[in-house]
Amino acid sequence: MNTETLTISDNRTGKKYEIPIWQGTIRAMDLRQIKTSDEDFGLMTYDPGFTNTASCKSHITMLDGERGVLWYRGYPIEQLAEQSTFLETAYLILHGELPTKSQLDAWIRSITHHTLLHENTKKFIDGFHYDAHPMGILVSTVAGLSTFYPDAKDIHNSESRQVQTYRLIAKMPTIAAFAYRHSLGMPYAYPDNDLTYTGNFLNMLFKATELKYTPNPVLERALDVLFILHADHEQNCSANTMRSVGSSYADPFCATAAAAAALYGPLHGGANEAVLRMLNQIGSKDNVPQFIARVKAGEGRLMGFGHRVYKNYDPRARIIKQIADQVFEVTGRNPLLNIALELERIALEDDYFVSRRLYPNVDFYSGIIYQAMGFPVPIFPVLFAIPRTAGWIAQWEEMLLDKDQKIARPRQVYRGETRRNYVPLAARG
Ligand code: ACO
Repeated sequence: MNTETLTISDNRTGKKYEIPIWQGTIRAMDLRQIKTSDEDFGLMTYDPGFTNTASCKSHITMLDGERGVLWYRGYPIEQLAEQSTFLETAYLILHGELPTKSQLDAWIRSITHHTLLHENTKKFIDGFHYDAHPMGILVSTVAGLSTFYPDAKDIHNSESRQVQTYRLIAKMPTIAAFAYRHSLGMPYAYPDNDLTYTGNFLNMLFKATELKYTPNPVLERALDVLFILHADHEQNCSANTMRSVGSSYADPFCATAAAAAALYGPLHGGANEAVLRMLNQIGSKDNVPQFIARVKAGEGRLMGFGHRVYKNYDPRARIIKQIADQVFEVTGRNPLLNIALELERIALEDDYFVSRRLYPNVDFYSGIIYQAMGFPVPIFPVLFAIPRTAGWIAQWEEMLLDKDQKIARPRQVYRGETRRNYVPLAARG
């Protein structure tokens, strides 16, 4: 029996209310009984940006921002980054447990089987302008897949959800690669199912005239680890979008397109692209103090710094720094790294950043690695969306199966005009 309660004393009426506490939360609906009169609507909470509101119960990802800890289904991110693969991690995130050998083989087979796109998809990718941002192409094409798979509307059928999961995880890299090749005017490279998930993605991006593309094993593994680090991150902006859109029972392709659109913004997954543009704009290590001064004066943000939840250090950023060393051994050191290191050094000593608890997040170094690996800057957010699809689907399915969940529909505090009569056009001043 729950014995933890909160007593609220309403100073407007002198009344007291005892409200249950569950897992460190109170239910917002329990506040509704707190009224000044029968006509009063009752108390609500006001929380723009959900800074202190739990929107769901979840079993998927745990992050402790104070201690810089991140677990998927209880497994620390450091162990997964060292020992797992992206597809195994995706299975874990979606199913709750690590797969057995036969489960993993079947999972990889199912994903591999769905990597091809319907040929008509190429036609609408072809319709985009040559310099269309690949994220725009990705968002639209994923939404377009909903029209190819009307069976995806059967969201309460677990077998249908399973098939859509295979399709989404398998086709994201293909769409991303086709979007990239479209921007170069290069012919699309079809999936090579002999390769791993990330190896095949590199093949579809970079294959030229050779009969068989062989990915560099160091870069293939580095990308796989980056995919592991990006696979889920609990109730961030895009996961919340996935749940919110999914709560109206939209099909998973439309919900994923919406989540990808949320990711596109520079305050979320678009930050990796914004970091690269910022580093290029700074240009040299000597310009760093001047740039920091401008940020402190409120002229823009230091992209790749700060996080809503991590107020210590983003554990993913630590792992990414190690990957950078391995990648640079193959590709040569990205000259932008010196600027990034200098920015980090100065920011970590500066009271503005220290007092606001702003530290490098996952996006601060990922872009530098992607660039060294040969990825063009506009494709960076797409590299985030591919692995995050696993997390989005897990969040969506958890939402659908949670009896507590309803259509997402927040309240507002209305501050507009009170009732007034329509004024005919001729009578307006
Ligand atoms: N550079 C400079 N100042 C910053 C930064 C930054 N990157 N981030 C926050 N601040 C300052 C704010 O100006 C504010 O200062 P004030 O109290 O004087 O007004 C204070 O720190 C708190 O900032 P909020 O915007 O309230 O913090 P919030 O938790 O809402 O925002 C966010 C988090 C969006 C990530 C923010 O830190 C930011 O914009 N960072 C840069 C973009 C970025 O790197 N995004 C990627 C995040 S990770 C991810 O999505 C994968």
